[in-house]
Amino acid sequence: MQNLQGKTAFVTGGASGIGLGIAKALGRAGAKVVVADVRRNLVDETVKWFEGEGYPVLGICLDVTDREAYAAAADEVERVFGKLHVLVNNAGVEVGSAKLWDFTYRDIDFITGVNFLGILNGIKTIVPRILAHGEEGHVVSTASMSGVSVVPGAGLYCATKGGVISMMETLASDLQGTKVGASAFCPGPVQTNFAANSTQVRPEGMKNDGAPASPPPPPPPPPEPPTGDPRTAGFVAPPMPDFSKALISPEEAGERVARGILRGDLYIMTHPEFKGSVKTKSEAMLRSFPDEPLDPERVNIFENFFTFLTKNPIYDAQTTPGALDRS
Ligand SMILES: NC(=O)c1ccc[n+]([C@@H]2O[C@H](COP(=O)([O-])OP(=O)(O)OC[C@H]3O[C@@H](n4cnc5c(N)ncnc54)[C@H](O)[C@@H]3O)[C@@H](O)[C@H]2O)c1
Repeated sequence: MQNLQGKTAFVTGGASGIGLGIAKALGRAGAKVVVADVRRNLVDETVKWFEGEGYPVLGICLDVTDREAYAAAADEVERVFGKLHVLVNNAGVEVGSAKLWDFTYRDIDFITGVNFLGILNGIKTIVPRILAHGEEGHVVSTASMSGVSVVPGAGLYCATKGGVISMMETLASDLQGTKVGASAFCPGPVQTNFAANSTQVRPEGMKNDGAPASPPPPPPPPPEPPTGDPRTAGFVAPPMPDFSKALISPEEAGERVARGILRGDLYIMTHPEFKGSVKTKSEAMLRSFPDEPLDPERVNIFENFFTFLTKNPIYDAQTTPGALDRS
């Protein structure tokens, strides 16, 4: 998009954490912001903050899994602000750590309902409204770095986030030739109360009867030298780092999303430190192709006839953003 001034942006999960950071960044960029979140008290607080700053805002208490309520929310936004331009599918939850087969069906229904189906609900409800007026628009969905390179123990969460990345790549493909773009936001660690909030918003009927899945494991202890090895005599364990330094603020996450919308990025990333894990995964996939010569006839078919199977311009369009301007 050329600019966000006067555009209407609908942010789900917009009343805390990353969503609030995104909502604030869009407000600062001149957008009229709709803060849609399942927690009414936080929606009210957020609306007060926006009003204090003098930014146009509309608060809506919305559960993204409720399709009728989603349509009613979109109607309400169009009534108050007019055209919708930007959708940020950010609402998300987690369900703790377990082996994939040990998660309960309630874990599965809860997390896929919000993290995956909730985003489809947003796309089905709002994208046709953006396309209908023909002006510029954009859709961002908050996935995660763990949707790219999975984290052991968090399989269900990673699976939903990987699905979101594919969904946004598909949406970007479907939107080719329109004035509407799509991005998968893949943050690394961000300073929020995600685990506690996920427990708080979990509906009664979706809570587990027995012990909940365990929280993610704590950071590893510092390395210790093998005892009695003369080569490690005088070994001094490195000092424990301040683990909070791995986290970025929700405000920084929000600024990166606002910039990604303006740049039209397919992927919006936060921590360049994760480039190694993406490279490792990509290289593993490339290595896994059978070591066989290419079949010239198949090459001809894929290169000249079924090009949609092997070439997609959405990937070529991605460029590298510079360092974030924090001034
Ligand atoms: N915090 C991190 O390190 C991190 C990293 C990568 C991705 N993410 C993703 O970022 C997004 C935001 O998470 P966060 O860390 O800011 O935590 P958060 O708990 O502060 O934000 C999630 C928000 O979504 C809302 N929400 C939950 N279920 C909802 C529903 N059914 N309908 C509407 N709103 C609902 C919550 O009330 C909350 O305000 C999530 O999608 C999460 O998966 C977080």
